[in-house]
Amino acid sequence: MNVQVFYWKIQVLYFSFLLLSAAAIVVPEPQHSSCRCRPHENCWPTQQQWSTLNSTIQGNLVAVRPVASVCHAMEYDAKTCNATTELWTNSVWRSAQPGAGQWENWEAWPEHHETCYIEAPRNSKCGQGRISLYSAKVQTKFHVQKAVLFAKSHNLRLAIKNTGHDFLGRSTAPESLQILTHEMKDIKVVEDFSPKGAPNRKSEGPAVTMSAGVQLPELYLAVAKHNRTVIAGSSHTVGAAGGYIQGGGHSPFGAWKGLASDNAIEFEVVTANGTIATANSYQNSDLFWALRGGGGGTFGVVTSATAPVVVYNFNITTTGGDPRFWDAFSAFHAALPSLNDARGSGYYFGLPNLPIDQNTTVSTIISLLMFPEKTDVNEIAKLYEPLKTKLKNIGGVKVDSMPIPFPSVNSTIFTILLAGSDTDSTGSLSALLVSRLFSRDLMLSDRGLERLTKAWKSIRWDPFSSFTGHVVAGPAVAANKNIDSAVNPAWRKTVSHMLFGRGWNTNTTLAQQKAMVKNMTDVEIPILRSVEGEDQMGAYVNEANGYEPGFQKAFWGENYHLLYKIKQKWDPKGLFISRKGVGSEDWDDAGLCKVKA
Ligand SMILES: Cc1cc2nc3c(=O)[nH]c(=O)nc-3n(C[C@H](O)[C@H](O)[C@H](O)COP(=O)(O)OP(=O)(O)OC[C@H]3O[C@@H](n4cnc5c(N)ncnc54)[C@H](O)[C@@H]3O)c2cc1C
Ligand SMILES: *[C@@H]1O[C@H](CO)[C@@H](O)[C@H](O)[C@H]1NC(C)=O
Ligand SMILES: *[C@@H]1O[C@H](CO)[C@@H](O)[C@H](O)[C@H]1NC(C)=O
Ligand SMILES: *[C@@H]1O[C@H](CO)[C@@H](O)[C@H](O)[C@H]1NC(C)=O
Ligand SMILES: *[C@@H]1O[C@H](CO)[C@@H](O)[C@H](O)[C@H]1NC(C)=O
Ligand SMILES: *[C@@H]1O[C@H](CO)[C@@H](O)[C@H](O)[C@H]1NC(C)=O
Ligand SMILES: *[C@@H]1O[C@H](CO)[C@@H](O)[C@H](O)[C@H]1NC(C)=O
Ligand SMILES: *[C@@H]1O[C@H](CO)[C@@H](O)[C@H](O)[C@H]1NC(C)=O
Ligand SMILES: *[C@@H]1O[C@H](CO)[C@@H](O)[C@H](O)[C@H]1NC(C)=O
Ligand SMILES: *[C@@H]1O[C@H](CO)[C@@H](O)[C@H](O)[C@H]1NC(C)=O
Repeated sequence: MNVQVFYWKIQVLYFSFLLLSAAAIVVPEPQHSSCRCRPHENCWPTQQQWSTLNSTIQGNLVAVRPVASVCHAMEYDAKTCNATTELWTNSVWRSAQPGAGQWENWEAWPEHHETCYIEAPRNSKCGQGRISLYSAKVQTKFHVQKAVLFAKSHNLRLAIKNTGHDFLGRSTAPESLQILTHEMKDIKVVEDFSPKGAPNRKSEGPAVTMSAGVQLPELYLAVAKHNRTVIAGSSHTVGAAGGYIQGGGHSPFGAWKGLASDNAIEFEVVTANGTIATANSYQNSDLFWALRGGGGGTFGVVTSATAPVVVYNFNITTTGGDPRFWDAFSAFHAALPSLNDARGSGYYFGLPNLPIDQNTTVSTIISLLMFPEKTDVNEIAKLYEPLKTKLKNIGGVKVDSMPIPFPSVNSTIFTILLAGSDTDSTGSLSALLVSRLFSRDLMLSDRGLERLTKAWKSIRWDPFSSFTGHVVAGPAVAANKNIDSAVNPAWRKTVSHMLFGRGWNTNTTLAQQKAMVKNMTDVEIPILRSVEGEDQMGAYVNEANGYEPGFQKAFWGENYHLLYKIKQKWDPKGLFISRKGVGSEDWDDAGLCKVKA
């Protein structure tokens, strides 16, 4: 990373610091305006004020335009447009750009007719959309503090972007100041971590402390050097310390070691008044409960990176459209609890309508579960025998299976999870999800399986469309219910977090987009939600629909009430508001105006 430090600005820095504080005292708080300050208003910071902020954060402030703007109208530039086109679907590149997210639908602001699609005609004007107007490319926590105080004193909409992977539009916000955490890359592994304020400097054992911008492969590599591993997710570009852990953080080794947030020990956060707070079990424990994320954090590290793993690949295939596919779907889910009890966790992908050539379509489920601390492939194969027998009895079902033994967790991570391309494929670049957490109890009952199968069967499966099942909870996640955190309590009962996506392209009109969203929220989410009843279970905040109805309950269950209270204590004015986040119901969808006094 290109970390620029302008030493010569240190004097200026001190001076600016005083100025900023003075400004905060002299400028009266906006008179009960229920809206944030907008660019066309007098309250908007002057050029002078922006450049003062820039010096304060050592020249790391940039004015931002959407990344595709270099391909349009007056901003057209042949060379950068060419480079941008080449990089368009590269998620590593996107994570570093202040002017990009990972999903085009959250870059655009179609309700305001603001889009900046790269494919649009060259002479078309590029709209700013939900891309921030300025970005503070923060390098240090001091920079973060200054950016937060600036947003606070000028009543600006603030957006925090780490990698921009968010599916709910939480890392972009229209007419905002962005804090881009991407360049904060410090990682430190210690053998004995003692949380601040712990009596007698009590140690929590080995831990890794990382800055806000660290991405998963960087984390895995850093801890592997110490012959250790860490419980984190499966992605090339998702961040470890930002949205991922704040939402809970699931991992393919969840059944073995729990959620990422279960393993969090301490966080250091910049609060709404610009001060730095350390949150752990000993101090600011309410914040620790609420956050389990939100800034540089320390995770407990699993010591057994060298534990062997058996990965088991099990594929189920029928002729396309054969109703027996759904019987196989049911049998597969009936088998999940026992596979999961054996600490099997991982992923499965369903393709109910997969054309393989001009004349043939199949329906298939491809599953890949990982069994840690195992070497005997026959022992694992045996776990699948009852399922195999059931599938045989259904008839018309082809089964292919293969064990893949690995000598260590480390080699499993690098060979299976981080294999292939160095970037995440973002596929259709406009995406919304429909997702639900499904419980172990559901899959242990015939009636439950029937409801689950009927629901998934009734979803419209277009050619090539797919669903994903994440078997990332179970034993350790369930046992960790004694860990008191804000994580959705439904996780403790979950066996599979299942989702599918719907997307659109640049030709999809706003009316068509709205119709799709409406069908998702009014038809498809209710279909999945009704499987276990509205009051049971819920959805995973990090991989849920961006318009989730009743998101408070769906994402946090009974924890929402306390979360909202803690939010009021630490951020009474709603400086840190994100779409479908805690307290966001008090604001309009763009987070620009208050809708509740
Ligand atoms: C390809 C892919 C793979 C994934 N794999 C997994 C997986 O294996 N397990 C899993 O649990 N999830 C997974 N996810 C979901 C992932 O957890 C979410 O997309 C998550 O929001 C990403 O967090 P981020 O910080 O990288 O992204 P961003 O979009 O930058 O941020 C997400 C949210 O967190 C906030 N935020 C970010 N950094 C900070 C910070 N330092 N302080 C305060 N707030 C902050 C942002 O404002 C935003 O609200 C995956 C997603 C994708 C696209
Ligand atoms: C901030 O300062 C840097 C370095 O002096 C400069 O390159 C950059 O353009 C400035 N940003 C803004 C928004 O003026
Ligand atoms: C970019 O330019 C190179 C070299 O001229 C060319 O080969 C390539 O096709 C161009 N890419 C795009 C996306 O236009
Ligand atoms: C990790 O393990 C290898 C092989 O056992 C050993 O050579 C190396 O010194 C270890 N590294 C650390 C940091 O312990
Ligand atoms: C900032 O907020 C915290 C938490 O509400 C409070 O403890 C602290 O005193 C505040 N600091 C300042 C300088 O206002
Ligand atoms: C598909 O069917 C047509 C008509 O029966 C046949 O001509 C063609 O070769 C088939 N294509 C493939 C890929 O099998
Ligand atoms: C399962 O399906 C995947 C995807 O088609 C394939 O790569 C894999 O080899 C299959 N596994 C077995 C055991 O056939
Ligand atoms: C982790 O696995 C990768 C891929 O197999 C390997 O290159 C690396 O050396 C391993 N690291 C350790 C510490 O074992
Ligand atoms: C709504 O969703 C259902 C279930 O996926 C589907 O069958 C139906 O075609 C959808 N309706 C529209 C108008 O998209
Ligand atoms: C959008 O429509 C144009 C004109 O009909 C077509 O050429 C283009 O391929 C379409 N783009 C996509 C992504 O479907």
